[in-house]
Amino acid sequence: MCGIVGYIGEDQAAPFLLNGLEKLEYRGYDSAGVAVYNGTSLQVAKAKGRLKVLSEMINGGRDVPGTVGIGHTRWATHGKPSDINSHPQVSDSGKFAVVHNGIIENYLALKDLMVKKGKVFVSETDTEVVAQLLEYYYKGDILEAVIKVIHKVEGSYALGIICADDPDQVVAVRKDSPLIVGLGKGENFIASDIPAILNKTRDIYRLNDNEIAVLKRDSVLVYNTDKEIVTKEPVHIDWDVSAAEKGGYQHFMAKEIMEQPKAVRDTISPRIQDGKIVLDKITLTAEQIKRFKKIYIVACGSAYHVGMIAKYVFEKFARIPVEVDVASEFRYRQPIMDDKVLVLVISQSGETADTLAALREAKNLGVRTLSIVNVVGSSIANDSDDVIYTWAGPEIAVATTKAYSTQLAVVYLLAIYFADKLGTITAEEYSSYISQLQSLPDKISEILANKEQIQYLASQFFNAKDVFFIGRNLDYAMSLEGSLKLKEISYIHSEAYAAGELKHGTISLVEDGTLVIALATQDALFDKMISNMKEVKARGAVVLGLTTKQNKKIEQVADYALYVPELCEMMLPSLAVVPLQLFAYYVASMKGCDIDKPRNLAKSVTVE
Ligand code: G6P
Repeated sequence: MCGIVGYIGEDQAAPFLLNGLEKLEYRGYDSAGVAVYNGTSLQVAKAKGRLKVLSEMINGGRDVPGTVGIGHTRWATHGKPSDINSHPQVSDSGKFAVVHNGIIENYLALKDLMVKKGKVFVSETDTEVVAQLLEYYYKGDILEAVIKVIHKVEGSYALGIICADDPDQVVAVRKDSPLIVGLGKGENFIASDIPAILNKTRDIYRLNDNEIAVLKRDSVLVYNTDKEIVTKEPVHIDWDVSAAEKGGYQHFMAKEIMEQPKAVRDTISPRIQDGKIVLDKITLTAEQIKRFKKIYIVACGSAYHVGMIAKYVFEKFARIPVEVDVASEFRYRQPIMDDKVLVLVISQSGETADTLAALREAKNLGVRTLSIVNVVGSSIANDSDDVIYTWAGPEIAVATTKAYSTQLAVVYLLAIYFADKLGTITAEEYSSYISQLQSLPDKISEILANKEQIQYLASQFFNAKDVFFIGRNLDYAMSLEGSLKLKEISYIHSEAYAAGELKHGTISLVEDGTLVIALATQDALFDKMISNMKEVKARGAVVLGLTTKQNKKIEQVADYALYVPELCEMMLPSLAVVPLQLFAYYVASMKGCDIDKPRNLAKSVTVE
């Protein structure tokens, strides 16, 4: 996820671009850049680091004069944060400058093609290929070239483009990444999000997928990919600025919950090509995978809960024994490690001190390490032998949601990939798991579409004093996350328990009216869960059951029921977590808690 802005008008472009980028820094902040037409050529300034590094470098924009420009604040995906990898990316001759938000999935093939045509690449980004393609296809008409390029590229993109040969326009196009056009008087704007332009105008066009906007000083025309003009209705924005930064949501957490279908799709789809899982640049060979006799999964917080699910998934798919450890424990327990062990580290930030220390400990012992990380170029990503990135984009709310979901998605990709190499699943199972994985984003959207039902349930329980989450196997692992979400943001005491273990002590805490959230998504364990629900009901509990749509029988026992769509059992946690996140969110919201910054917590825990 990155932020893009663009300007064409009578004023100086760079100060507007810097101001707009500041409002978009929540979308990424590892580097920033601008390109401005200075009367003869495109002047590009970019720098690794926060926006203020760039701003100081160009003297608040004064050193980059000109009235047409584009800007970018980056959240690295392809290529670590660096000056060269920062956007704008320019074409070989410097004629085109491009800013991009999204992922060009087929960039390697296109890069090969352009190299064969003699283009020289300088960055590791997928975006540079767009600049090169534009230059290659440009025959005097930018719109024509853009249409040709978008027929070539696959993936997601919002692009802002300027051209030195035709400097009186800014061209923008989007697919699956957000982009708006701001409509001014004698000036027009593009931006990834509304806050970037609110100091200039409140009238915008929302571009739809594959719409191309051509901005001149006095006009904005929008075209489709057949070069026909699309008639757009301007939208007037009357939100205040802080609401706008959250895309109209009251909290980042709500926004991030709703972003999950896209985040999961962005994480999965570039890794599935022609029905096969292709895992970036991981160097592990099939031979090495075959040598592993054990996997240690090491992580903290919600990432540890992903590890708990991963244990079931790896053991089921790849038949490798898995141990899951909280990183702060792992590092001091002298685990038995040798060259037949893989240490799999999971971390959103890539900077969690205990997780990093555990990773280094494993490395010191010469053990093979693989990490699942969201922040590109972070310490854990850098120090691991291999890294698979989650493409969740920046997560602002302290309580993780979309990073958790994308970590789970990578776990599925990896476990199926291992299983294929190890021959522990058949070709039919392999294809079936892949297509089920691909159905995840739509199924998550289906659950999100019914969020009001969960809001209603939250209204029934937001005054609860204690809440218990129970489940077996995968559902137990899910319970841990559901319980953590609730307690961290609503401050309601909550515990997650293996349903069969409840009667060994914790059930003594159940009294009249205690809420028990019972997860029962696995068919083979469904009847056992029904018995556990009856046990707590007999002690006065109110039971909220969560299962799949086919298991309506749950209503015979549970006081309230929530359903998720059908899916391969191992992947159901990806669906079941969503109602739990929403429940925690709505309860905390009804209690008036500071949802995005809960007391005593931090997003990235860089101390032991
Ligand atoms: C903190 C966050 C959690 C996160 C945990 C691990 O406690 O609040 O949401 O799961 O750290 O962080 P990591 O960045 O390593 O995933």
